[in-house]
Amino acid sequence: MIIAIDGPVAAGKTTLSKILADRLSFSLLDTGAIYRTVALASRRQSVDWSDEPAVAAVASRLELDFQWLDGTNHVFLGGEDISEAVRTPEISQGASLVSALPDVRAALLDLQRHLGEEGNVIAEGRDIGTVVFPAAELKIFLTAQPEVRARRRHEEWRRKGIDHSYKEVLEALRERDARDENRPVAPLEPAADSVLLDTSELSIEQVVDRALGLARDAGSTEISG
Ligand code: DC
Repeated sequence: MIIAIDGPVAAGKTTLSKILADRLSFSLLDTGAIYRTVALASRRQSVDWSDEPAVAAVASRLELDFQWLDGTNHVFLGGEDISEAVRTPEISQGASLVSALPDVRAALLDLQRHLGEEGNVIAEGRDIGTVVFPAAELKIFLTAQPEVRARRRHEEWRRKGIDHSYKEVLEALRERDARDENRPVAPLEPAADSVLLDTSELSIEQVVDRALGLARDAGSTEISG
């Protein structure tokens, strides 16, 4: 069974996916981490983020691996743990740029499908329900007001010691939203058969309860809690 969780920047997809994966004993596929890895690998190979053929070549040779360690999902590039390195504001910006390139998206399609083909998976991203796994049994489109998302992301970065003002975070988020929504290939949009969940005024527990109810209706069995 595949559960697709799509939605804009900082809507809470990763938090929800982790809790659902734990409660349902599903594995996780964080497709945003794949685009982030492409941005990081390109930077390290001195490939410009706007050079579509070169970035697509990087994407098609990606030696990527995910491992679940100490309760978190780690991403590896050629054996190196790059989980933290791909979460910086700079790489977030790079991921947003490379993910708008059609050849890069095409190069990553098989990889995402291959990673998701085994067993029960929670796959999170922007186009999971529309493009990557259009036959997913459950599709959730998670969203929240931009100000709410910017506040959450600002708080997350502050905790990590990344010094960006709330205003800067909100501006960058609006810019990434616009790029995700307006790109010609696989733009961010809810699949016609997705369930829309606005988390602006919901606690994490409320979002989890709602999603678990939907997963149950779609045929999955909760393991604990
Ligand atoms: O979810 P995230 O912030 O880690 O995603 C990083 C970037 O990758 C983001 O700018 C949108 C893009 N992305 C995408 O275009 N398609 C996906 N399925 C997942 C992420």
